[in-house]
Amino acid sequence: MAHDQLTDIGACVFDAYGTLFDVAAAAAHCKDDLGDKMAPLATLWRDKQLSYSWLRSLMGEYVEFWQVTQDGLDYSLAALGLDGDPALRQKLLDLYFKLDAYPEVKGVLTALKAAGLKTAILSNGSPDMLDAAVRNAGIGEVLDDVQSVADVGIFKPHPRVYQMSVDRLGVEAGRICFMSSNAWDAAAAANFGFNVVWVNRFNQPPERLPGKIVTQLDNLRGLPDLLGI
Ligand code: LAC
Repeated sequence: MAHDQLTDIGACVFDAYGTLFDVAAAAAHCKDDLGDKMAPLATLWRDKQLSYSWLRSLMGEYVEFWQVTQDGLDYSLAALGLDGDPALRQKLLDLYFKLDAYPEVKGVLTALKAAGLKTAILSNGSPDMLDAAVRNAGIGEVLDDVQSVADVGIFKPHPRVYQMSVDRLGVEAGRICFMSSNAWDAAAAANFGFNVVWVNRFNQPPERLPGKIVTQLDNLRGLPDLLGI
């Protein structure tokens, strides 16, 4: 059922990692190498990758997300006593570069495009990472734009990042519907002025941060319905 605030939407903008692409997939594909360290590695790697992005933004020390991703992995491998295996490190990075998309992603994007909506990714990811993941998922033709923070030189949740979507799509913030599975990104995007659907894939409690989301979904399947498509 269409939500009141989601009836005059001109563009749907998606976070990439965790929302369209499965950030746990790289570790999952190395299950045999990682054993019972698979889940701790996936979690710690993601936590470090994100906290390094925030810390670097505060320090004024931006580097591309691919560097932050490698730094987060190196910390995590060392913390878990897995740092003596360069082949495993390379395998994890190769897998991360072209992560699997969640199963419903292509169908949902196709439905949105068919309904005449603009579609885009807005991500911390570096352009080459996003390009590889988009190609791997075969979703290039159902996306109007792939927007990387590399163009503004600071990571989410800086408002400059969300403003980039408004500028590049030519759609005002109040007519953009933004989807993220990352609760902090959802809160920040809502605080900026987007209509936000929090894709709460991991059944997490809400962050205690400014920004009021419109609603939440378990995955993206319910989105067309929510938009009245
Ligand atoms: C991104 C991270 C936040 O894709 O998941 O921007």
